[in-house]
Amino acid sequence: MISDETVDRVREAADIVQIIGEHVPLRRTGTDFRGPCPFHQGTHKNFSVSPRKGIYYCFVCHEGGDVFTFLQKRLGMDWPGAIRYVAEKVGIPIEEVQQRREGPHPDQPLWDLNAAVADWFRTLLWDDEEGRQARDYLALRRVSRETADRFGLGFAPRDGEALRRHFSALGYSDAQLLEAALLVARDEGGEPRARFRHRLMFPILDAAGHTVGFGGRLLGPGEPKYLNSAESRVFSKGKLLYGLHMAKHAIRRDDRVMVVEGYFDAVRLVSAGFDWVVAPLGTALTEQQGQILRRYAKNAFLLYDSDRAGLKATFRSGDELLRHGMTVQVVTLPEGEDPDSFVDRRGAPALAAALGDAIDVFERKVQLLERAGWFADLRRKRRALDRLLPTIRATQDPITRDMYLTRASEAAGVSRDVLERELAAARDRARAVARPADVAPRAQPARAALRRAPAGRQPPVERRLVWILVHAPALRDYIGEQIGADDLTSAALGTILAAIVAAGADASPGDIALSLPDDAGELFRTLVEEPPGDGFDMQREADGCLAALRAAPLRRRLLENQRAIDIASDAEKDALIRDKVRLQRELSALGAGRIKSFDPAQ
Ligand code: CTP
Ligand code: MN
Repeated sequence: MISDETVDRVREAADIVQIIGEHVPLRRTGTDFRGPCPFHQGTHKNFSVSPRKGIYYCFVCHEGGDVFTFLQKRLGMDWPGAIRYVAEKVGIPIEEVQQRREGPHPDQPLWDLNAAVADWFRTLLWDDEEGRQARDYLALRRVSRETADRFGLGFAPRDGEALRRHFSALGYSDAQLLEAALLVARDEGGEPRARFRHRLMFPILDAAGHTVGFGGRLLGPGEPKYLNSAESRVFSKGKLLYGLHMAKHAIRRDDRVMVVEGYFDAVRLVSAGFDWVVAPLGTALTEQQGQILRRYAKNAFLLYDSDRAGLKATFRSGDELLRHGMTVQVVTLPEGEDPDSFVDRRGAPALAAALGDAIDVFERKVQLLERAGWFADLRRKRRALDRLLPTIRATQDPITRDMYLTRASEAAGVSRDVLERELAAARDRARAVARPADVAPRAQPARAALRRAPAGRQPPVERRLVWILVHAPALRDYIGEQIGADDLTSAALGTILAAIVAAGADASPGDIALSLPDDAGELFRTLVEEPPGDGFDMQREADGCLAALRAAPLRRRLLENQRAIDIASDAEKDALIRDKVRLQRELSALGAGRIKSFDPAQ
């Protein structure tokens, strides 16, 4: 660490005009110096350097800072590098303040171990007979030896004992190998064995260049296609970005970063000359990754697969980066291509062209909604805005945000005032519900919890009615005459309802279970295991549910109608309010006004 006093002394001693003058032709104007701005490649003299204040500033692109900022942004130096560079010019010796900690960093042994294992994997890839399969695989994917070495690719052998054998001979204990999650313990006293077997290995480095873990790809089909190191003190998926260690200087220098989805995408792009690329480790960008990227650049380009999942990830990641004040552009690749296959097939110039055609992430969203006809009528327009508003809300950069508001207003034909009111209302709602989850780092749901979650939404009234069908066989015909599977929004409950009604009053739960598909079976068993309490009036309860279900579509339409009124112009409002009155009348005619149990917002 360099002390603050030293940094200040170096800054004061620096000849900012001379240093910047090496990169920009500067001419004196009054007390300052002027030249063309190197940041937005201006041709007029809008770039000003003030030797008195020790700062530079561009009046057009508003880029500004001190001599160190200039070196970081223009030459891609890192902070200490920029200070050392200037210190050397002005002849100030840099004494590093000793970190309070004595001796090496506590994570050093884990880094060293991972690096040693990466070396071993690399040797196996290139020099071992078994590595042939992985070498063939790389050749098949057209990754050269040079590129592979640049990323330190390696090969984990099929034999699950090999890693332990090799590293215990070098003096590493099982405990160390287990801590680094390179070995996994097996239950019932079995010997621990290697986590990665028969995979092509991508070492993962943190931004400072320490080897912290691995991603491993199967050489053929199978599951899981990629396996990452387990979470540990040094390896945290949500905080790491593959390739950042190598790309960070270029990213800082050009103030832009390209984000792709996969390891191979990053490898391919770097080898094609796009050295400002990073990839998250198999997840959408996290809050921490957004924060890290913002430290290096303000502008992001997202290159995800062109399928539905890729689009979803694009918009999620986009919002995350906008939240950190970045600008976000989207590159759309042809159907079925990822950046790796695209560059492999069409070459670097094609990607450069695609980057030139990148469009703003918000504009892309508007474009997709427009093409799908979402702005055609007021109700769909309302839903379209529901998709656009969260992105506007996420946008921290005031100018970008303002542009987005204008664009949304223009696309939807809704005034800016109304949109701003909607944004404010959403903010108040968010504030009213205290959400600690937004403050704490967002936890990823545990896998087990995901698996147990029921498929789809089950509105309580629908669930109640089907539960009655299970436990009150006498009411099966009565209910079946009034309602069918299509009247339920939950597909799983609809399936069960249809099966019970078809089976009739005499069918036992066992009979019914046999006629159900697997995914509905579990839900059915849960319903069977919830017995009715004493003195429960099934008939009354069933009538209540039926009335609520008949009212449900009307309530949904009322809610939609109200949300359309919120964004309507005065001219449009008249017709919507007439609809509202009509819907309310229909609803009270159903006698369902009193039924509280159904809440369409649930
Ligand atoms: N990934 C993962 N676990 C999986 C599948 C994918 O962690 N089971 C991550 C990996 O980081 C991978 C990225 O998600 O690189 C993208 O996955 P995918 O699009 O399926 O793979 P590609 O990168 O296209 O891989 P490949 O070209 O090797 O098929
Ligand atoms: Mn791929």
